[in-house]
Amino acid sequence: MKQDMIVILDLGSTENTTIARMIRDMGVYSEIHPHDITFQDLEKLQNVKGIVLNGGENRMVDGAAVDIDPALYGAGYPMLAVDHPTAQCEKKLENLPDEAALREFVFETCKAQANWNMKNFIEDQVELIRQQVGDKKVLLALSGGVDSSVVAAMLIRAIGKQLVCVHVNHGLMRKNESESVVEVFQNQLHANLIYVDATERFLGKLAGVADPEQKRKIIGSEFIRVFEEEARKLEGIEFLGQGTIYPDIIESGTKTAKMVKSHHNVGGLPEDLQFALVEPLKQLFKDEVRACGLELGLPAAMVYRQPFPGPGLGVRCLGAITRDRLEAVRESDAILREEFEKAGLNKKVWQYFTVVPDFKSVGVKNNARCFEYLVIIRAINTVDAMTATIEKIDWEILERITNRILAEVENVNRVCYDMSPKPPATIEFE
Ligand code: XMP
Repeated sequence: MKQDMIVILDLGSTENTTIARMIRDMGVYSEIHPHDITFQDLEKLQNVKGIVLNGGENRMVDGAAVDIDPALYGAGYPMLAVDHPTAQCEKKLENLPDEAALREFVFETCKAQANWNMKNFIEDQVELIRQQVGDKKVLLALSGGVDSSVVAAMLIRAIGKQLVCVHVNHGLMRKNESESVVEVFQNQLHANLIYVDATERFLGKLAGVADPEQKRKIIGSEFIRVFEEEARKLEGIEFLGQGTIYPDIIESGTKTAKMVKSHHNVGGLPEDLQFALVEPLKQLFKDEVRACGLELGLPAAMVYRQPFPGPGLGVRCLGAITRDRLEAVRESDAILREEFEKAGLNKKVWQYFTVVPDFKSVGVKNNARCFEYLVIIRAINTVDAMTATIEKIDWEILERITNRILAEVENVNRVCYDMSPKPPATIEFE
């Protein structure tokens, strides 16, 4: 192993990630684990130089204060207890350590080396993946999103053709998105990639369905069905790769942290598929995942891709999806993205997209009445997607985008800009 590690055991603190990031900022790798990790499991982690017992306001579980496996106290690891009065170690602090105190613990008490960087992280993970997987095969649902793309690149580096990627194109991807997944993973990284064009199947199931929740359910369950069908055709798969990242684990809740929302990275696969999981990014934060992707050679456009909902353009082609409106969403979105990139707004604005409602309005084209769709542009900024403000786009840029959409997108005679913050509007329309 290339990297030393400080382990943070979560005894009910809300500051685990703060301490982890402080230690990583000092150049030392740190991982957060639940307070009830066993002595045996902790011993399996390699190069552990010290442990922070991180207590806090959620210390009481089922009426009792939590503590660590007693065997760990005698195991010889240097320990620092924070807000954990009953810890059986000498060094105890009442509050979150300041940088100097943490630095002293990490470098002087634990004698850790500052050797955390993406190159070393990748080398360590590659070795761990090889140890875990051996000569078996790993299956991965590759959506083209940041997390699944980075985990795919990492697994290709570690086990090459033993990784089988399945990319399901549900027909609701953005323009050229599936093509770019195939280009990067099959043609450049030489991945073992199964590309499934399930467009007709999805659009068939969605035909006439106008209710947003119903649309989401159909897209989600059909996705699992297609993926499962592909998985069953394959032989000798024992592992499932997942792009789980640390915020997914935190938000899904632990014994000492409340659930924010549950994350289903592949969407609740049937239990009889029974794979063991390979999740090499599960200790990383989003910015670190991006840095990891760049170090693994993924294109910046893929690594800095803006968030895109699982149901894709399906929730931006409002009401019952029709092919002409879906094309209008896809083409107008492509123009918006192109113009944002030219203006440098892609680096500034958190999320931007177009929406096509399911009604028409009257217009004039070639001196004749027309009755066509309208495109709504939405561009928002947010930190955590819980609230959002709108981007105040320069008028000239808006005019240029509008003119291009009106000239280049078929069946469209009107463009509007959505001025609504969240709340009361959500970011997406459906
Ligand atoms: P809302 O519309 O709830 O969106 O304000 C908040 C953020 O979540 C994204 N979003 C989704 N992402 N699957 C996803 O992976 C979904 O079903 C989904 N719905 C919304 C949305 O794009 C925004 O960034």
